[in-house]
Amino acid sequence: MNKFVILFYVLLKVLAVNCQGRIVGGYAPVPHSIRYIVSLQTTRGQHFCGGSLINRYWVLTAAHCNIGSDQILVVAGDYSLSMYEGTEQYSQPQRLIPHPEYNQSTNNADIMLIKLKTPVALNGYVSIAPLPRQNASMPEGRVCRVSGWGYTSSNTNQIPSTLRTVKLPVISSVKCNSTNSFNGSITYNMICAGYSAGGKDACKGDSGGPLVCEGRVYGIVSWGNGCADARYPGVYTAVSKYRRWIDRTIFSSYGRCSKY
Ligand SMILES: *[C@@H]1O[C@H](CO)[C@@H](O)[C@H](O)[C@H]1NC(C)=O
Ligand SMILES: *[C@@H]1O[C@H](CO)[C@@H](O)[C@H](O)[C@H]1NC(C)=O
Ligand SMILES: *[C@@H]1O[C@H](CO)[C@@H](O)[C@H](O)[C@H]1NC(C)=O
Ligand SMILES: *[C@@H]1O[C@H](CO)[C@@H](O)[C@H](O)[C@H]1NC(C)=O
Repeated sequence: MNKFVILFYVLLKVLAVNCQGRIVGGYAPVPHSIRYIVSLQTTRGQHFCGGSLINRYWVLTAAHCNIGSDQILVVAGDYSLSMYEGTEQYSQPQRLIPHPEYNQSTNNADIMLIKLKTPVALNGYVSIAPLPRQNASMPEGRVCRVSGWGYTSSNTNQIPSTLRTVKLPVISSVKCNSTNSFNGSITYNMICAGYSAGGKDACKGDSGGPLVCEGRVYGIVSWGNGCADARYPGVYTAVSKYRRWIDRTIFSSYGRCSKY
């Protein structure tokens, strides 16, 4: 790759660092230790959502990250969004498949599959995330990990926006759905995670990214009420409720090449 192309990517990435939303109360993981996470960027290089690579051709993310397949660039193997590291793989979506039951007003079924035009190469920087079995549940208190890209809002002295991660316990749906918290807005297709003291959470720019429990993607960053508020934990799409849908969608795309 020549110097001009590298400079171009660096410029794109500097432009990308003006978004809000970051993992709250987390830390920077060892570079490239979370290899299944992808950054969804606009075609101009602006990060707007996260996702998980579940297959060389497929990315799992949130349905509310759907900005149109022509508008999205999928970046695997990234760590710092503001630097070109040489480990990045850029792919264009061939097709977006938001869940047909996704409801924007209730946030139910906030899940989407992205089929890539070209497969990503698996290597020391890019890997595939395992998924839970259909209907597998995570008990309350089990500690999971959510990851996403952080941003700095300062105009000058921008810190490279590297990946951030935070560990959070699962909160029971009963507690999360109670009048003290989300008061009836939690469906069976959602899981909640956070500390009752608040202070740690995923936030807006982390949408679509993975909540990983016992090595599997149990949740997709979906919604909440503010970030890291003690009363309102983060709400995630319960991936185990959609395992069958994921498998069927992927399988049928290979059976009917013309469709996807
Ligand atoms: C979304 O859910 C609300 C509340 O259950 C319902 O009234 C509405 O019809 C749903 N919208 C769609 C598009 O399904
Ligand atoms: C998963 O649970 C739903 C109800 O929550 C049920 O309708 C479905 O049959 C279950 N699927 C499997 C594979 O057990
Ligand atoms: C909870 O929801 C119910 C039914 O929608 C409503 O009547 C009640 O005022 C809500 N409570 C709080 C604390 O928001
Ligand atoms: C949350 O409460 C609402 C209203 O009572 C109910 O319809 C819904 O099924 C509850 N969700 C769960 C996961 O129990």
